[in-house]
Amino acid sequence: MKIAVAGTGYVGLVTGVALANIGHSVICVDVDESKISMLSNGVSPIFEDGLEDLMKKNKDRIVYTTDYKMAYKNAEVIFVGVGTPERHDGSANLDYVQKVCEQIAEYVENDCVVVIKSTVPIGTNDKLEEYLNNNKKLGVRISVASNPEFLAQGTAIKDTLHASRIVVGTEDKRANIVMREIYKTLTAEPYNVPYLSMNRRSAEMVKYASNDFLALKISYINEVANLCETIGANIDDVTNGMGFDGRIGSKFLNAGIGYGGSCFPKDTKALHWFSRENNAELKTVKSTIEVNAKQKLRLFDKLKKDCENIAGLKVAILGASFKPGTDDLREAPSIDIINALSDYDLDIVVYDPVSIAKLKDIFGDRIKYSKSISKALSGSDVCIITTEWPQIVNYKLNDYKKYMNTPNIYDGRNCYSIDEAKKAKIYYNSIGRPAIGSYLK
Ligand code: UDX
Repeated sequence: MKIAVAGTGYVGLVTGVALANIGHSVICVDVDESKISMLSNGVSPIFEDGLEDLMKKNKDRIVYTTDYKMAYKNAEVIFVGVGTPERHDGSANLDYVQKVCEQIAEYVENDCVVVIKSTVPIGTNDKLEEYLNNNKKLGVRISVASNPEFLAQGTAIKDTLHASRIVVGTEDKRANIVMREIYKTLTAEPYNVPYLSMNRRSAEMVKYASNDFLALKISYINEVANLCETIGANIDDVTNGMGFDGRIGSKFLNAGIGYGGSCFPKDTKALHWFSRENNAELKTVKSTIEVNAKQKLRLFDKLKKDCENIAGLKVAILGASFKPGTDDLREAPSIDIINALSDYDLDIVVYDPVSIAKLKDIFGDRIKYSKSISKALSGSDVCIITTEWPQIVNYKLNDYKKYMNTPNIYDGRNCYSIDEAKKAKIYYNSIGRPAIGSYLK
């Protein structure tokens, strides 16, 4: 099929490349000329494992352009995968989605299905279909389908080609037929991805309900972890004991210093805002947001409790991105911690294997940066681990002793076992487990 994809961010680009990989002819459109020029040269503007290889493999089926007139003119299907960032009040900003729909209404010359991949509040697809049909320039038929994505950064290709499910919301027969046709390769052997057909509002809701449930699971286990510290239990044993129950499952039960990224923070706030607007406030989602905000500063609070006067300390922060495998710093707990530490007269040095350039854009020369763990630790009084990069997980505890002035380690991702910490004779304070040793002055 002839498909146009609006937006070359995580959602748009991965969708476009995946659609080309299953045989469609795809035009990826973006207003950002530098991105389009990178893509045209085979370079991905986002850090995503396997994406460039797939772009290369399918290069004869994908065109990258800023010319949206050309892209929308003859498209049979137009996917919209542009961002819906958070507004100040927590609601989703739909300006980019609206702009794309204005361009579609202006330039589309054939009957087409507009597929909304962007995460949008429930009811948005209905409004967009109305807008498109009231504002189209020619007498064409435009249907809107909701097709939320569930890809996670770092595993985006696998999450798309071997998706847990394809959720499609339609309100008319033609859109339903077109959507099934698009995905027929993925729903057949060897992919066998389940295809779930429903109405548009339900599809929109599946996306928010899924993301917010995962965020809730994380906030729940983080609160349980905090309680474990107080009562002398160990969260590793607790989650292991819980995960054996198939109804609970062992995934997304890793306690830590909270969730970050481009989705959970934004989507929890958007659904909470939306539920209040509809006089049906989701109190569990509200608590999820509050718990997470506090959890991000859990290690900072612990440090303040251990050390009365933190001014003058040299602090090494290991990891900056919101999770390993990405250079994305959006809503990363490291940012909250650096901001909190910055209120004091401290020396801060941050190690991260890939996000230093982005970190410099935020903090400039207010902090120091290092591409080596050992150099970051050198002469430091305190180390705070915020991301479980393999380079950090595999770094030996004895080397902290070797390089740090005083090996006080606060581990927000439980990278080391309690037994290892005991053997290393350091001060080791993690999440949901007993602290080992005492703070070293
Ligand atoms: C998430 C969803 O997983 C994905 O389905 C959706 O489409 C977009 O949002 P992503 O933001 O890429 O994907 O990251 P994910 O791997 O889900 O992690 C999100 C955050 O939760 C990270 O900060 C991670 O550290 C944290 N997390 C995750 C935990 O603290 N504990 C866990 O057990 C799992």
